[in-house]
Amino acid sequence: MAFIVLVAALLALFVHLITKKHRFYSIYNLPPGDLGIPVIGQTFSLLHSLRRNTDDQWFRTRIKKYGLVSKMSVLGSPTVLLAGPAANHFIFTNDSLALTQTRALRSLLGRSILTMNGDDLKQMRSALQGYLRPEMVRRYVGKMDEEVRRQIKLNWVVCETVSVLPMARRLTLAVICSVVFGQEAGTIIEALAADFQLLGDAILSFPVNIPFTRFGRGMRSSAKIRKAIKRIAQEKDELVLQERHDVASFPDFITYMLILRSQGAHSLTLEDIVDNVMGIIIGAHGTTSTLITFMIRHLTNEPDVLAKITEEQDEIADNKGTGDVLTLEDVSRMKYTWKAAMETLRIVPPVFGSFRTAAKDIKYQGYDIPKGWKVFAAQSITHLDSRFFNDPTKFDPTRFDNRSSIPPYSFLPFGGGPRMCPGTEFARVETMVAMHYLVTQFRWKLCFKEETYKKDPKLTPVFGLPVELEWRRPPSAADAWNALYIHSG
Ligand code: HEM
Repeated sequence: MAFIVLVAALLALFVHLITKKHRFYSIYNLPPGDLGIPVIGQTFSLLHSLRRNTDDQWFRTRIKKYGLVSKMSVLGSPTVLLAGPAANHFIFTNDSLALTQTRALRSLLGRSILTMNGDDLKQMRSALQGYLRPEMVRRYVGKMDEEVRRQIKLNWVVCETVSVLPMARRLTLAVICSVVFGQEAGTIIEALAADFQLLGDAILSFPVNIPFTRFGRGMRSSAKIRKAIKRIAQEKDELVLQERHDVASFPDFITYMLILRSQGAHSLTLEDIVDNVMGIIIGAHGTTSTLITFMIRHLTNEPDVLAKITEEQDEIADNKGTGDVLTLEDVSRMKYTWKAAMETLRIVPPVFGSFRTAAKDIKYQGYDIPKGWKVFAAQSITHLDSRFFNDPTKFDPTRFDNRSSIPPYSFLPFGGGPRMCPGTEFARVETMVAMHYLVTQFRWKLCFKEETYKKDPKLTPVFGLPVELEWRRPPSAADAWNALYIHSG
């Protein structure tokens, strides 16, 4: 009897809460759509479509049914789905919409640029933008080149078959670490590459800290990485305070942040710097490795595009002496290759959409968006719309011949507005350097012609994109021996 009363009471409370919420929202002119089953809403249906790579279809079905502004509920939050260039402009530039990260990301990365706001965010963005601006990238392009060559020598030269995604991740992790840590990069990668992978994988997981779950493993890796970076940052801080840091060479990112702090240019703590280093490494290497992986995949099916890229890259290679590193001028000449990269970003954007939270009640196209609601826009909605990109599923780098023909806010692989990706130039140079060596040295053939990919929610070819490699320009005997020696040792 008591049990029945309890169930009835719980049911009444549930109905009361739902109707109360309904009465509360009735003061708003909410967009069309439905919030689905409480808490669950459309979460599983959307996640399922991401895993099956049918998310673009999923969004288009909703847009067809409800229009360019509709409400739904994902990850436990009422959410407004917005579509079209005007919506993208609204999301990226409206002051009342705050960048939103998952609870998992906040727990894993602490107080990084991805989660900061207010004055701390301003200070961090300004310092990071300073370090990543084109004039600065020019100063470490040689470092990127050395690291790319080293990775290719280690992981590609001796193999007949490679899985592109894990190798691209390894390469981009090595490049960002060489810039962030300087001399200590090798030790960090050796000790923590697997932990960075686990940390990256946990960012969109269910945030309950139970061992052996994605999130549990991510939290353990996060603590291990934080400890290692903190030790390095403390050592570098000692050198900066005693003015014993290497002033002759270009400072690594940690030293740069510590120098700025010692000059009073920002008031971020050492712990803030450590968390930001973690955030930047995660933001930088997962995205760029996806771009490189999918570029290789697309080029396999596009022999004409590959031939044009090869011509461009061979010309650059033929004008350099053996061992000369690429410069920013060389990268600037890779115009067609960059168009092919942008075409890859259009068709398969590594960041599939942007989430924001309404900091106060706001209006969009006559509809109310109540304070606390989430707002979401998916990049594919405009990237794959034939009104903005003719024959949108066709891989055609020449559509970027005339950038001004692309309507504003319809091509946004790096986001837009004040939270736009600060690593755009870094990603461009890194991708071009990597593609230069891959295209000039190898030809590749897909091991699984029909390999599909999923969004988990990171874009992932289901088998990691294994390819058979063939040499175009064999390595020098010394390089081949070195690589063999490292592998057999
Ligand atoms: C192909 C490569 C990359 C792509 C497609 C990409 C894409 C993006 C996008 C779309 C955002 C904005 C998300 C939003 O507003 O909702 C973003 C933010 C960010 N990206 Fe990138 N990114 C790439 C490479 C990099 C690199 C190389 C770095 C660092 C060296 C980096 C660091 C960051 C950081 C720190 C943020 C957060 C900025 C903020 O919240 O103010 N990204 N990225």
